[in-house]
Amino acid sequence: MATNITFHEGTVSQQERQQLLGQQGLTIWLTGLSASGKSTIATALEQHLLHLRKSAFRLDGDNIRFGLNKDLGFSEKDREENIRRIGEVSKLFASSAALTITSFISPYKKDRDFARQLHEAQGLPFIEVYVDAPLSVVEQRDPKGLYKKARSGEIKEFTGITAPYEAPEKAELHIKTDEHDVEGSVRIITEYLQNKGYLS
Ligand code: PPS
Repeated sequence: MATNITFHEGTVSQQERQQLLGQQGLTIWLTGLSASGKSTIATALEQHLLHLRKSAFRLDGDNIRFGLNKDLGFSEKDREENIRRIGEVSKLFASSAALTITSFISPYKKDRDFARQLHEAQGLPFIEVYVDAPLSVVEQRDPKGLYKKARSGEIKEFTGITAPYEAPEKAELHIKTDEHDVEGSVRIITEYLQNKGYLS
């Protein structure tokens, strides 16, 4: 922890920034097993919101691990650090008035709750979306062949097989991706944002 540092406030408050830009910053936090549909929904949602002329930006688990978080693996500690950093980064994007969309497995409840607290302490909405598909379904999909490798022991600590996934109990939205297609999932999230007044 660094010492002798001072926080510098800007001259434009968060509220004033939102008024000037005409947009409430927030984070839509997608969580779910690998291959549950997080990245697909996030990509389609980002496109939809941009076409509504909203400033939307997506942070994706695989992508972030190529850069910012390339020093992290999949141990419990590394996943905690992964989500801590993304909690902080998404809060920064949200406070810039962006509609921020994160798609990370984020398997531990305490880490998701930490990200929520960071946002809520700053008055930024945090919308947890449980992207839910049963293990049998995601294992069948297995688009990257990772479940097969996890079952054979080639990949260690794989979520849902040899590492835990703590399903959200009070997520703002619960989308079963074996019942809703991508468009339907995007509609559910967009309707939620509309009903809350976040798109007006
Ligand atoms: S976490 O748990 O939130 O830190 O994971 P995340 O940053 O979202 O990265 C998940 C993607 O990494 C690939 N991958 C693994 N996932 C889970 N467990 C293990 N051991 C693992 N190894 C590699 C996998 O492609 C995940 O992508 P998605 O998009 O979720 O399928």
